[in-house]
Amino acid sequence: MDKEKFYITTPIYYTNNYLHIGHSYCTIATDTMARYKKMRGYDVKFLTGSDEHGQKIEESAKQKGISPKEYVDHITNHIKELWSLLNIDYDYYIRTTDEKHIKAVQKIFKALYDKGDIYKGYYEGLYCTPCETFFTESQLKDGKCPDCGREVHKVKEESYFFKLSKYQDRLIKHIEENEDFISPSSRKNEMLNNFLRPGLEDLCVSRTSFKWGIPVEFDKEHVVYVWIDALSNYISALGYGTDNDSDFKKYWPADIHVVGKEIVRFHTIIWPAMLMALDLPLPKQIFGHGWLLIDGGKMSKSKGNVVDPKVLVDRYGVDAIRYFLLREVAFGQDGNFTNKALIERINFDLANDLGNLLSRTVGMIDKYFEGTLPKVQDNNDKLEQEIIDFCSDIVLKVEDYMDKMQFSNALTEIWNLVRRVNKYIDETTPWVLAKDETKKQKLANIMYTLAESLRIIGILINPAMPNTSKAIFEQLSINNEDLKSWDSTKSFGLLPKDLAITKGNVIFPRIDIEKELEELEAMKPKNTQNSNKTEDNKIEEKEQIGFEDFLKMDFKIGEILECEKIKKSNKLLKSQVKIGDKIIQIVSGIANYYTPEEMVGKRVVVLTNLKPAKLCGEISEGMILAASDSDNNLKIITVEDNENVIKSGAEVR
Ligand code: ME8
Ligand code: MG
Repeated sequence: MDKEKFYITTPIYYTNNYLHIGHSYCTIATDTMARYKKMRGYDVKFLTGSDEHGQKIEESAKQKGISPKEYVDHITNHIKELWSLLNIDYDYYIRTTDEKHIKAVQKIFKALYDKGDIYKGYYEGLYCTPCETFFTESQLKDGKCPDCGREVHKVKEESYFFKLSKYQDRLIKHIEENEDFISPSSRKNEMLNNFLRPGLEDLCVSRTSFKWGIPVEFDKEHVVYVWIDALSNYISALGYGTDNDSDFKKYWPADIHVVGKEIVRFHTIIWPAMLMALDLPLPKQIFGHGWLLIDGGKMSKSKGNVVDPKVLVDRYGVDAIRYFLLREVAFGQDGNFTNKALIERINFDLANDLGNLLSRTVGMIDKYFEGTLPKVQDNNDKLEQEIIDFCSDIVLKVEDYMDKMQFSNALTEIWNLVRRVNKYIDETTPWVLAKDETKKQKLANIMYTLAESLRIIGILINPAMPNTSKAIFEQLSINNEDLKSWDSTKSFGLLPKDLAITKGNVIFPRIDIEKELEELEAMKPKNTQNSNKTEDNKIEEKEQIGFEDFLKMDFKIGEILECEKIKKSNKLLKSQVKIGDKIIQIVSGIANYYTPEEMVGKRVVVLTNLKPAKLCGEISEGMILAASDSDNNLKIITVEDNENVIKSGAEVR
């Protein structure tokens, strides 16, 4: 009989940043689910990938002085390395720069256009011409430009729109009728009440203001909106729209899209509407997980509170991290990440409970039976039967929780079993029995029960902690795959009677928590240590440049001849600056720090070959250098030269 298919996905990760432990949370959970389903006999496909287009990426690459493709190649390699470090066993990795993805997106866009669901229109915004900026109604100050205070006017920019509104009623109906479509159910009500019922507007799905995206095939000035591009990955990865679409036919629709809560909206409104427009079946479930928080706030690079998964894996091993993330936070809710909680879990749950159970069991079999588990008689006593019943009860509970992606509850149940079996050792006191030759058989029964319980525990933890599972099997010398299968957890007593034991290393060494916390604290970047100020006083380090790059910048000494305020702005000063025998005009955002009178006569450092730009309608032909900090201090850089020997026009280098 053919296996039932199971197709599960993570979001595709933006390649405008290095990933932190928050991103890893989603992949680890999805990987655990995929491994579990494989063990349950499903034909599983697990997709992840990277989201490589958009204006931000274009800008990041430009800042680094490399092409966008070079930039995303670099980040994507880094992401793949991270997944391999975290033992993420995906089947497909899609990149939105893959040729087959680009083709699929162009095909989808064209199909929707041909159907009349994408139409050309105008994106209307409020524009301040001098500032060359679009604003929304709410950004305006007293109905005027918030930057310069002048009139704004309505401007239309050509773009394509997707008829999202057309699908509103069908979407509402689908969500209402399919209980599990949006999970957890709290997210479902949020979507219905906050977005769908108030009414959907058509969606602007193309841009002309930047280039790094998928061009609209029939109108190359336009690139496809990044969410239309990104969402299509779930089918382009399966070969949709190509000659080689057998995986698409076999695995679509997805069984579960696992996504963070902030992108549930895109996955439960835009994506299903696109699929409806394409006459394709909808995914069966969107599962919106919560955020991993630090000090109650979201982890973010700009806050400087990101946690590097590599550092954690190096120190504690991948399974400790996987266990912690899945156990500590109920999947679906937000949860706090702290080093202390992590180390406590490692010490108590992993070292004390599981690690001890394994080392005591293996140690006793080694000591009392020279490492070979003796034959066991078939006369189970009451305590033994209790363990057997406990095991079969736990297996059913674990299955129930895993099926619902309640990883924390599933692990809690497994650890109830671990603790129960540890207690069984204390109840039966094998070290007392070992002194009495007539109790040898009873002692053997106890050892067998321990080893068999550990075999079952090793299987149950496998989806979450594959390496630890392996280590347990190795120490118990279990090689037969049948004895590692999920189904085999349903039978107690499968271990061969003359099992050999291979004493191994301690699987989770205890950590000196105080020392460890001190070391971790010392590793924090200095600027975030003991400080609430994060973003602002972080010292940004840019990439190294060559001397030839430095020489491209033309720094000269300039003398301020005249200076005045720009009336329409409260930030800007306009200066006439003498550079040798030339006079240029420079607009600077320093009106809060210097009066025009203070500026006149100063000899300042000027970047003279900056491309001229208009600020509040005034041309600015260079830049006056100043130092500023996070406390809102600003000082102009002047020449240390009381004798007045350095004249304007002198080079600065
Ligand atoms: O959103 N805790 O990509 P992304 C938990 N490219 N999850 C977190 C997290 C945290 N602190 N920080 C991030 C995108 N995530 C789009 C997706 S899919 C068609 C396109 C999760 O790299 C976040 O919730 O910004 C999201 O699910 C995933 O990481 C990728 O985020
Ligand atoms: Mg995001």
